[in-house]
Amino acid sequence: MGRLEANFDGETVIVTGAASGIGREVARRFGAAGASVLVADVAEEPKDGDVPTHELIEDEGGTAEYVETDVTDRDQLEALVAAAREFGGVDVMINNAGLYVGGSVLDLEPEEFDRVHAVNARGTYFGTQVAATDMIERGEPGCVVNTASISSSHAQFDQVQYDSSKGAVRMITRGSALELAEHGIRVNAVAPGQIATEFLEGWTEEATEKAASDDLLKPVPLGRAGTPEDLAGAYLYLASEDASYVTGEMLYVDGGWQVF
Ligand code: NAI
Repeated sequence: MGRLEANFDGETVIVTGAASGIGREVARRFGAAGASVLVADVAEEPKDGDVPTHELIEDEGGTAEYVETDVTDRDQLEALVAAAREFGGVDVMINNAGLYVGGSVLDLEPEEFDRVHAVNARGTYFGTQVAATDMIERGEPGCVVNTASISSSHAQFDQVQYDSSKGAVRMITRGSALELAEHGIRVNAVAPGQIATEFLEGWTEEATEKAASDDLLKPVPLGRAGTPEDLAGAYLYLASEDASYVTGEMLYVDGGWQVF
């Protein structure tokens, strides 16, 4: 089977959480499609110690810049969007930075709850706010693509705090799509299933055992974990003109997990 050819020549794309994992591959694909990419992350180096994402994109002939950004801080998000103006202004905002915190609803500490919600929910909300405000001020409506999760709609053991933060991403996507439509700004989300990255460091053995014993983590129909490469095309599609009549949508890329 062939691949769709994407063309984002002349467009500026911000990808948060782009040092590693899914965001790194999404940033790379936008760079390969001609976009100027702002790689926004708390870390410049990827978790596996490989070359930084902006260098990878440049090595492949693209244009990219690393902007150190903590998405929990709205001032830093505003500085990020201001940095995009040097490339003409943000056209596509990918709110992807995310954090997993495991633990039972019976004993999780308030600080841990706040930590995961600050990155996953608040980071997505204010990432959307600052990007949309800038698009409206420039009179250049673009689009927002958030990283939701299978957890936006499906509960699993020992991760109520993560699931609720991703449930928030789902409703931030839908509510923002509703409000921003009159400005011509589309807002969608990609909902990954189980993706092989270094993300799940905090996933406890106990949680895995419970999930398996209660048959909640049903086998993925396609029979394997996904990869960042499996996901990236969904972001490019949702950010493209081919998705011009798509907003408020959550596109599952999960090997069929959510059909259970
Ligand atoms: P990852 O851990 O490989 O990458 C996450 C990136 O976010 C890292 O580069 C990290 O430095 C960055 N980050 C963390 N906190 C940040 C902050 N405050 N400000 C800016 N950047 C920050 O994880 P992965 O798998 O690539 O996850 C990306 C997104 O996909 C997350 O939103 C995650 O919740 C979501 N997701 C991942 C799944 C998986 O199975 N890997 C499944 C469903 C959703």
